[in-house]
Amino acid sequence: MANNTFGIDLGTSNIKIYSRSDDSVMVEKNMIAIENKNTVFAYGNSAFEMYEKAPANIHISYPLCNGVIADIKNMQTLIRYFVEDLMKGNVRPADYLIAVPTDVTEVEKRAFYDLVKDANVKARKIMVVEKAVADGLGMDIDVKNSQGVLVVNVGYDTTEISILSLGGIVLSRLIKVGGLKFDEAIRNAVRKEFSLIIGGKTAETVKMNLKELEKEEKGAVVYGRDIVTGLPVEREIPTALVDEALEEHFNTIIDNVKVILERTPPELAADIYRHGIYLTGGASQVSHLAEKMAKGTGLKINSSEMPVESVVMGLAKIIKDENYRTVAYAIEGMSK
Ligand SMILES: Nc1ncnc2c1ncn2[C@@H]1O[C@H](COP(=O)(O)OP(=O)(O)OP(=O)(O)O)[C@@H](O)[C@H]1O
Ligand SMILES: [Mg+2]
Repeated sequence: MANNTFGIDLGTSNIKIYSRSDDSVMVEKNMIAIENKNTVFAYGNSAFEMYEKAPANIHISYPLCNGVIADIKNMQTLIRYFVEDLMKGNVRPADYLIAVPTDVTEVEKRAFYDLVKDANVKARKIMVVEKAVADGLGMDIDVKNSQGVLVVNVGYDTTEISILSLGGIVLSRLIKVGGLKFDEAIRNAVRKEFSLIIGGKTAETVKMNLKELEKEEKGAVVYGRDIVTGLPVEREIPTALVDEALEEHFNTIIDNVKVILERTPPELAADIYRHGIYLTGGASQVSHLAEKMAKGTGLKINSSEMPVESVVMGLAKIIKDENYRTVAYAIEGMSK
């Protein structure tokens, strides 16, 4: 019998791990910094700190791409480091529950299982659960008894749009739009309008502060490099320019939500209409997305109170409460 259970939501930007023994959630950047091609120099939030600032011999990367594992070796290393930290240096046998995206191939799904199995963390039982189901539970929706729940999770690389019914997934679509695309759109607009090159972190800060700036009717003050002179400068970016830059990506998300709604069996429409859309994921907090989605779909929007953690909070619920166990499953042919 393992003495602990971990619930893992492997996001492209943030890894979230729930630990049953201390009933807590860890959120760290899913990033690794490798020095001279072979030594781990930093990981998690401290690797992110160095991002876009590190010298050439330190390579910093995200081992996940578009919600799936792109770099198995580094992802295994990260899992091992985080679990070691959570177990205070002494890795003991534990069970694992991993949230997986629905709209990916079986091979990609199995990779999440293999990742933990081979990460040298003494994994005992490994179960998986669809991300959207965990998301629903994390947002306190009675997913096992509802017939028609629409969950939209806007993350870093991806947005997952899913229809749940009676604890399972009816439809799910993973699209490659999320916080990263928002940041890139801001960078491109600033480059075009101001001939100014800004870093990814600066663009992300502008995006996160957008609501506040709009409230205060202020522009976003940024530092970057002038394309013409090549010199560092300070500029104030009007929020209207940022809103305009984000519009296209908002429309992509909303159009995809509409496509899913069109394909939803009519018997589920009543509950969806009654409840509205459950909107979560870190990037769902960006200014105007919720209101534009409400307008575009005609549905009410329920914004998650903890958008970054909703999946992992759902995992915590499944781990703690026997009643929810049935939504988790072992990957076929892979039982230990
Ligand atoms: N207040 C905020 N306003 C706008 N965006 C935000 C805010 N806080 C976080 N974000 C964005 O949320 C994103 C990270 O969210 P999240 O942790 O849900 O993604 P992830 O799970 O790592 O990614 P994915 O689900 O695509 O694999 C980042 O792009 C970040 O900039
Ligand atoms: Mg996510």
